[in-house]
Amino acid sequence: MIELGAGSRAAAVRAVAAVLGDGLMLEAALEAAAAAPADRAFAQALAFGAMRFGHRLRRVAVQLLPRPWDDQKPVVQALLLVGLYQLEYADTPPHAAVSATVAAARLVGAVGAVGMVNACLRRYQREREALLAGADETQAGRWSHPDWFVEQLMREWPDYWERILEANNAHPPLTLRARRGRISRDSLAAEFAEAGIATHAVSFASDALDLAVPTDVRALAAFVAGRCSVQDAAAQLAAPLLAAAPGMRVLDACAAPGGKTGHLLETVPGLGQLVAVDIDAQRAQRIRDNLARLGLAADVRVGDAADPRVIGDVLYDRILLDAPCSGTGVIRRHPDIKWLRRPRELPGLAARQHDLLNALWRRLKPGGRLLYATCSVLRAENTAVVKQFLADTGDAVDVTESASLALPGLPPRPELRGPGLMLLPGYAGTDGFYYACLERRST
Ligand SMILES: C[S@@+](CC[C@H](N)C(=O)[O-])C[C@H]1O[C@@H](n2cnc3c(N)ncnc32)[C@H](O)[C@@H]1O
Repeated sequence: MIELGAGSRAAAVRAVAAVLGDGLMLEAALEAAAAAPADRAFAQALAFGAMRFGHRLRRVAVQLLPRPWDDQKPVVQALLLVGLYQLEYADTPPHAAVSATVAAARLVGAVGAVGMVNACLRRYQREREALLAGADETQAGRWSHPDWFVEQLMREWPDYWERILEANNAHPPLTLRARRGRISRDSLAAEFAEAGIATHAVSFASDALDLAVPTDVRALAAFVAGRCSVQDAAAQLAAPLLAAAPGMRVLDACAAPGGKTGHLLETVPGLGQLVAVDIDAQRAQRIRDNLARLGLAADVRVGDAADPRVIGDVLYDRILLDAPCSGTGVIRRHPDIKWLRRPRELPGLAARQHDLLNALWRRLKPGGRLLYATCSVLRAENTAVVKQFLADTGDAVDVTESASLALPGLPPRPELRGPGLMLLPGYAGTDGFYYACLERRST
């Protein structure tokens, strides 16, 4: 007989092991882990929690293990993280956490590790305080982030790094965007209030509504009927900063899954043309699906946004470049980023961002505006890219300061010492986002 609760633990362990061992993203890994429908929500909570607090728990585990962490198979590492997560952070009764995790070890084929996992989890129960104190002696353990990232934040954000790290470890709010043209934010809030769901309007993002208690959106009638989308409030600032107007030709250069494409179309119903490009065909299909749910349409194309054969030999009035980036601003929503990103990837990402920015600039009309955006908190991908671009590009002007007047209520922002606008995690309740509004001088 299978131990009660072992199935959800086993699915969480498989997913975490796939992140640690194969570099899979957690959401994809959870899908591949194929939990039984009844186990899915708990497996997801366990896997996300183990990833979120895993750097601390790993420092606990190394004190318990007879051999180094790196010598353990990913599935054993995952069993320890999922087991310790339950004991320290979840509401699971300790005996259930231990016995179901040990049973999960058998289900995932780690029979040889059963005794060791059992012994580690039991010893943790006995020696918890000393083990946590040991873990907290390291920065990675204290903040539950990789060492390189803690150190980089300390250097780049000496006044904010602790707040950023704390916010990254907190559960994110579920933020919705009222679908303009179908419903106002106030009416959407009233609809939720009637259903007993408390919401809070975000002052500086005019369509954004935070749900007090996050819920499964697929169960919300307003979501199913296309009266709202899920989108962090920081991401909802792209449309007002781009300031498109009816009749304009707009390019959304890195568009999938289409969150900002949808908002652009909702905000300016009479756009002349909206071309939404993504290099990934599967992700581009998600743009179409998301727009269909909202009753919107764009010219969706698959390919490299820097390629004139994809975006055409035309000039655009507005270009949104939501560049591929490290994702270090959205760690609270994607804790697997703590495990998947490596500092050695940063120069490559910055070079890609720089290349895309330069290529797209050539497709911007004189007098037009390009909005450069990332969900990164790192200077190499933000101010450094834009600073270099401004130095190299005679007809580019940074107009972020005046453009952000379109965002009344925005809290005072951190000192950037460079062009653009930065929203840091832990600062305005949003994800970390960087925007630079660049206009092409008409000569
Ligand atoms: C940050 S995501 C975009 C999020 C999207 N703007 C939204 O709001 O939903 C970056 C996207 O850029 C795409 N991408 C990366 N390199 C690209 C390129 N050279 N051309 C077009 N798309 C690219 C990725 O596939 C990814 O979907």
